[in-house]
Amino acid sequence: MAGYSNPLFRALCRQGGAELCVTEMISVRSALLGSRQALEIMRPAPEEGPVIWQIAGGDPGEMADIAAHIESLGQAAGIDVNMGCPVPKVTRRVSGAGLLRDLDRATRILEAIVAAVRLPVSCKMRTGWDDESIVAPDLACAAAAAGCAWVTVHGRTREQLYSGEADLETIGRVKAVCPVPVVGNGDVTSPESARRMFEVTGCDGIAIGRGALGAPWIFGRIRTWLDTGRIEPEPDWPERIRRALVHWKLSLESHDATDRVFSVLKGHLIKYLGGHPDFEAQRRLVGQARSNEEMEAAFQALAAPVQDSRRALLPEVAATPSAQYEPLVECAQSQCGGGEGKNFG
Ligand SMILES: Cc1cc2nc3c(=O)[nH]c(=O)nc-3n(C[C@H](O)[C@H](O)[C@H](O)COP(=O)(O)O)c2cc1C
Repeated sequence: MAGYSNPLFRALCRQGGAELCVTEMISVRSALLGSRQALEIMRPAPEEGPVIWQIAGGDPGEMADIAAHIESLGQAAGIDVNMGCPVPKVTRRVSGAGLLRDLDRATRILEAIVAAVRLPVSCKMRTGWDDESIVAPDLACAAAAAGCAWVTVHGRTREQLYSGEADLETIGRVKAVCPVPVVGNGDVTSPESARRMFEVTGCDGIAIGRGALGAPWIFGRIRTWLDTGRIEPEPDWPERIRRALVHWKLSLESHDATDRVFSVLKGHLIKYLGGHPDFEAQRRLVGQARSNEEMEAAFQALAAPVQDSRRALLPEVAATPSAQYEPLVECAQSQCGGGEGKNFG
């Protein structure tokens, strides 16, 4: 997910039970023009393990070149092609969701990439441009014929952006005709909604976006349900805040403290607080932090009990944060290969 799916977050998701993670979308044109941000996303992080790298663009040759370059870096588990990004700047160039209006070009892009790499290639699409042009069943079959290993379908049209509910019926129609595995995507935020996605669509796997923000443990909750039929409760608020604190501390250890990293991190931390009865005040606290010291102070206030926000930091959090969070820190570091001097920007 653009702006969120950095190596540390991916490691936390894997630790939380995700089987595979995907990079932020890499704009092929920006990468070719040497954009710092695009190149940053493409910077190798060998320690983080297998990751699918997602690329977006509209030119088959350029897409194939970048895919081959990514393969040569030796870390990608696969190449995913974005055919869902709704942003006008992207769709105008007939890339992202713009490809839903040009299936011929979409197919040529996939064929060119499949011919250029040995890695599995997949495709992430929306159901169509709008309600009048639902193309996902056709596009999924074309992707399979082009050599894609699987397809992921977000159950919304480009016109819908993120409004309304994901259209599971159309994902089910894709599953009924597509010869390669279909991953269902849209509005999965709990074991119950995962069950609904599996039952209604018959899909082979589930991709989770927003439901993992501030809740990277969601994958494990769904996995427990799949394995045992038991639904684990959501972590309570003190636990969520503790995990946000772990995320922050890991980030401090693994990143250069650039402004961009700090603002990305704030975005993540605020997500952990979503749904809290005191959300607005908490969001302000974290949002206003301008330095590591201010963030520390914000967390001190958050760690205080909700019913008495004036109380000082809970003693057990204040006294031994490192010791308390060691198991999580160790686990996340081994997933990212963390440790000193590593840069996960
Ligand atoms: C902030 C944000 C960034 C996103 N970035 C990407 C992206 O880079 N690539 C992609 O395929 N989808 C991206 N998406 C779409 C999600 O992957 C997903 O398809 C969509 O949010 C629906 O699934 P969800 O309900 O699980 O979030 C993004 C969504 C959001 C909200």
